[in-house]
Amino acid sequence: MKLLFFTGSWPELSRNELAAVLGVQSGQFTQLEKSVLALEIDGDSGFPGDNSLQYLHALQLRLGGTTKIAVELACMPKAVMGTALFEQVKAQSGERLTFAIGAVGQINTRYLTGMISQELKKQGVKVRFIEAKNGSEVSSAQTFTNKLALMTAKGEVQTAAREYVLVQDGANVRISVVATVQDIAWYSKRDIAIPKPDPVSGMLPPKLAQMMVNLAVGTDVAPGVVVYDPFCGNGRVVSEAWLLGGVVRAVGSDIHLERSQDTTTNLEWVAAQVGKTLPTGPYSLQLDATNPEQQLLEQLLYTGGIPDPLYIVAEPFLGMPLRSPLQSNQKQAWLEELSKLYLGFFEQWKPGVRDVLPKAMVVVFPRTKTQAGEEVSVFGNLVDKLSQIGYSTVALGCYQRPDSYIARDIIRITYRS
Ligand SMILES: C[S@@+](CC[C@H](N)C(=O)[O-])C[C@H]1O[C@@H](n2cnc3c(N)ncnc32)[C@H](O)[C@@H]1O
Repeated sequence: MKLLFFTGSWPELSRNELAAVLGVQSGQFTQLEKSVLALEIDGDSGFPGDNSLQYLHALQLRLGGTTKIAVELACMPKAVMGTALFEQVKAQSGERLTFAIGAVGQINTRYLTGMISQELKKQGVKVRFIEAKNGSEVSSAQTFTNKLALMTAKGEVQTAAREYVLVQDGANVRISVVATVQDIAWYSKRDIAIPKPDPVSGMLPPKLAQMMVNLAVGTDVAPGVVVYDPFCGNGRVVSEAWLLGGVVRAVGSDIHLERSQDTTTNLEWVAAQVGKTLPTGPYSLQLDATNPEQQLLEQLLYTGGIPDPLYIVAEPFLGMPLRSPLQSNQKQAWLEELSKLYLGFFEQWKPGVRDVLPKAMVVVFPRTKTQAGEEVSVFGNLVDKLSQIGYSTVALGCYQRPDSYIARDIIRITYRS
């Protein structure tokens, strides 16, 4: 039995996030297409859950980098696929049978969809079909808007509509059904409707913040876990960490008082949206991450108990927004300014400095290009120095918007034992 994970625009980050959340090796996944991963869940795959819709719904809510999850129904020779799908749609219940057929690879789903719909109409069955965009792919927006997933956004099972996914496997075709889809309306609300946005210094997209938190904590979601963002800005990381399940305490700090206050306001708004009560604060304080005042840092981290364990997740300053590639003569200043800030922060958390050290850190490092096409990377500039301090680093992927001159390298940092 296979599960399919649709991983959207940043497949490497999504794959690493899935592996972290499920506690399996990232090599367990098979890449079917650039953006679709398959995971065998029978036998000793290490998959910690089951294929129940409730489990998959909870998993979907946890994942920033997976847009849909589908469960395999059957595997059959290609010649009988049309009849099998016809029977599947016919067996759906409801006044009007709603369905969509998508494919991973070169299967003409438009033809199949039309044929099945015509045949059902001939038999007097009312049908409605949603045609896959680009001939074979049903977008997650289509899935969400047309309520095609078996689980609704509220976590209820629906029987009126289905989305089938076909995967060619040699002479056979594997048929899966979409079990869950990301609640894009809730992501978009978190993205644009928060009371204190900050388009100037920039905000992490909620999905990326959620992925970073997952890449840090993995399966470690339990009472006592604290996620701390020392460059919290408007509090994306803090909000997404808290949304993980309420048992994780999430706190932040920022050098600017207003930003730290905005984090608290945004977190309280998120909590109100989901109707949950926050633990005792403070959730955010004003602190310089390169020289935090010990007493305030302790107040932030230790209210509610000593972190057990502590994770740091942060997107420090990415430099002034770039409207064009760096000039070659700006390169050194850009690298030096950012490297100084990053090193100043990492020096605060090296062994011997604090009583409680983070179990892991997941940090964004900016990278850009000069007009001459030369790569300029803060991580590349610091990797040896971080190693000298005693840190091990793993690059988990890169996130870059098509219209941005800054790429974000996502790095996981732990202490070398
Ligand atoms: C890129 S923004 C972080 C955005 C945040 N991840 C979000 O999505 O809302 C960087 C933040 O780092 C803060 N900052 C810069 N230097 C700092 C320092 N030395 N200590 C703490 N915060 C600092 C800035 O005020 C800014 O709010």
